[in-house]
Amino acid sequence: MAYTDLNTPSRTIMTPGPVEADPRVLRAMSTPVIGQFDPQFLNIMNETMDLLRYVFQTKNKWAYPIDGTSRSGLEAVLCSTIEPGDKVLVPIFGRFGYLLAEIASRCNADVYTMEAEWGDVFDAEQLKAEIKKVNPKIVAVVHGETSTGRMQPLEELGKFCRENDVLLVVDAVATLGGVDFKTDDWHIDAVITGTQKNLAVPSGMAPITYNDRIEKILLERKKIERGLSETSVNSRRIQSNYFDLSQIQDYWTPDRLNHHTEATSMLYALREGLRVIQEETLEERFERHLVHGEALNKGLKAMGVELFGGEENRMPVVTVVKVPDGLDEAKLRATMLNQFGIEIAGAFGPLKGQVVRIGSMGYSCRKNNILRTLGALEATLTYHGAKVNQGDGVQAALEFYTNAKEPVTI
Ligand SMILES: Cc1ncc(COP(=O)(O)O)c(C=O)c1O
Repeated sequence: MAYTDLNTPSRTIMTPGPVEADPRVLRAMSTPVIGQFDPQFLNIMNETMDLLRYVFQTKNKWAYPIDGTSRSGLEAVLCSTIEPGDKVLVPIFGRFGYLLAEIASRCNADVYTMEAEWGDVFDAEQLKAEIKKVNPKIVAVVHGETSTGRMQPLEELGKFCRENDVLLVVDAVATLGGVDFKTDDWHIDAVITGTQKNLAVPSGMAPITYNDRIEKILLERKKIERGLSETSVNSRRIQSNYFDLSQIQDYWTPDRLNHHTEATSMLYALREGLRVIQEETLEERFERHLVHGEALNKGLKAMGVELFGGEENRMPVVTVVKVPDGLDEAKLRATMLNQFGIEIAGAFGPLKGQVVRIGSMGYSCRKNNILRTLGALEATLTYHGAKVNQGDGVQAALEFYTNAKEPVTI
């Protein structure tokens, strides 16, 4: 039997995740497995926590990964903090807001939603008014909506939630490590991210951080757990064992109380990805994502395609392009992949078939990737019969790069 070859063809991944893993990360993953209680591994756990605090921009005691994809982090935070009947407000401006609402409802929360048009975000006053009306225990919101390429400003929301004793839980899966995200300064109580986007690590872990306001809830619920026999029932008990943060955090204390078998190779990967970020520095990394996102935007505009959504609140790491009338977006993506080896993404919900999404995240966010994507897209659109300004896209990006304040060499 002929098995699928993993080495060919090679791909350039320009989706909003998963993106290309940093080669250093891949090398780290192939180092020998050691036991999860080996002192050397315990050091790796501590180093990962420190590095996560740097990337989350927090002094929180708790910053560690949940084993699983990003939604495992969302589920762990929500199912450990929501008790049946708790009011949870979810402002929705794209697909992943619905995911937060769904998880909250599975935790038996009393879920309140508010919805913005896809392509928009919420005004701070609108959010404040809804919070006053609903008086929720928790507001759960997405920072960067990969489905629309929009970013919800959080600073004012965070301040208001703190003043009103509301917990703010944020999905920063698509932004952390690529876009400035200030957990402490913005008064965010819990943040969840994923590895496969701006952190340039394969999918498989969900780093989280939370403060003592969240920990207080965990400790109260743990008391209930302790008072129960293994089979008894209490609706306040954290319903999941795997996602019970009160147990998982004990595993991340110096006592290392056993909860699960840590995904050792993934932790090597995460630590290496975070070290790469620390070496680059957050400031430089945010700047890199801004510069390449801008080059892509300038190139697309010069090419003559229309971008989805306004300039304001645009994510620098996800660019959403309208498909020219009469063209089939699936065919465009197939040509990009099969002829050029470049993967871009389709869309969800109301945008399905209407737009394609181009990511410029993590290790994929490089000058050569941007230029090749622009060149391939110009050729692909022309091949499928669209009228574009052949050659102008790449030239505009090249010019932008040449004139950029700091010459961009990667
Ligand atoms: C903003 C956002 N939240 C949550 C998720 C879910 O992540 P995962 O597929 O890693 O579980 C994604 C995935 O693309 C995302 O973009």
